[in-house]
Amino acid sequence: MNFKEKILRLKQKKDAIILAHYYQNGDIQDIADYVGDSYYLSEIGRNCTEKNIIFCGVRFMAESAKILSPNKKVFLPNLNASCYMVSMANAKDIEELKIKYPNAKVVCYINSATEVKAVSDVCCTSSSAINIVKKLDSSEIIFVPDKNLGSYIQEQIPDKKIILWDGCCVIHDMINAQDIIEAKNKYGQDIKVLSHPECKKEVRDLSDFIGSTGDILKFASHNNLKKYLIVTEDGILHKLKQKNPDKEFYTLNMICKNMKLTTLKDLYLCLENLENEITLDENIRKSAYRALENMHILGR
Ligand code: 13P
Ligand code: SF4
Repeated sequence: MNFKEKILRLKQKKDAIILAHYYQNGDIQDIADYVGDSYYLSEIGRNCTEKNIIFCGVRFMAESAKILSPNKKVFLPNLNASCYMVSMANAKDIEELKIKYPNAKVVCYINSATEVKAVSDVCCTSSSAINIVKKLDSSEIIFVPDKNLGSYIQEQIPDKKIILWDGCCVIHDMINAQDIIEAKNKYGQDIKVLSHPECKKEVRDLSDFIGSTGDILKFASHNNLKKYLIVTEDGILHKLKQKNPDKEFYTLNMICKNMKLTTLKDLYLCLENLENEITLDENIRKSAYRALENMHILGR
């Protein structure tokens, strides 16, 4: 029996659901019960009835599932899978900024530590950020940790003041306007540029569409255009190609090494032994719960 067959058998036996982010390796995406962007997966984890959630993604995703569902067990098949951006914000510095801006509400990107969520008013994902900041009853917002997503929100909602934090995703932040210009010269000026909001302004300004991984997939799938430059992590190509075999997709070789760590063997061992469980300090979890639950209330 190969890993795939073993995983499918164990999943039933252990009352487990497998969630995978679009950046995961193709074989992991193919075996998962649900594949999606951060918001979609958070919603599935929150609403599912299975006792065990196996989260194929990075640690903040699994921690967020545990924050929302303390009575379920949440597992991260490869415990080394982290997100570079998470270490760029800490609770202490946010508390200091709150003193400086006493009227501001704190919105934290879900790509953050549980301790950061615990001192925030509401969380957001890339697909829900605009909606949430618009609905939030405050005209002043401290946005952590992604300065690029924060500046994108500021552009979309100019009547609110967004106080930015100095964090970013190093993989998205590395891409410059020149990379887009060169790709258009190489693949043709008619290529449509679809970018993630974690990209810099100079890249967003040259894009035809800006959205989360899920929104990029929807845009390319519901469009008759033939050729796309995808400016986000390469893992999204797997689903883009599966859903659109007749279209052409090009990327800028953006690889999040952490997202690629999880293997079928890790997933099998995790299920077989119910190992690599996520545990959180209960007081911090409770404080963080409010921000994540608010995300699901405002993000709808
Ligand atoms: P999504 O909100 O599109 O899932 O993005 C998450 C992420 O980590 C992007 O780098
Ligand atoms: Fe984090 Fe960037 Fe990887 Fe997304 S691509 S998980 S933001 S390091």
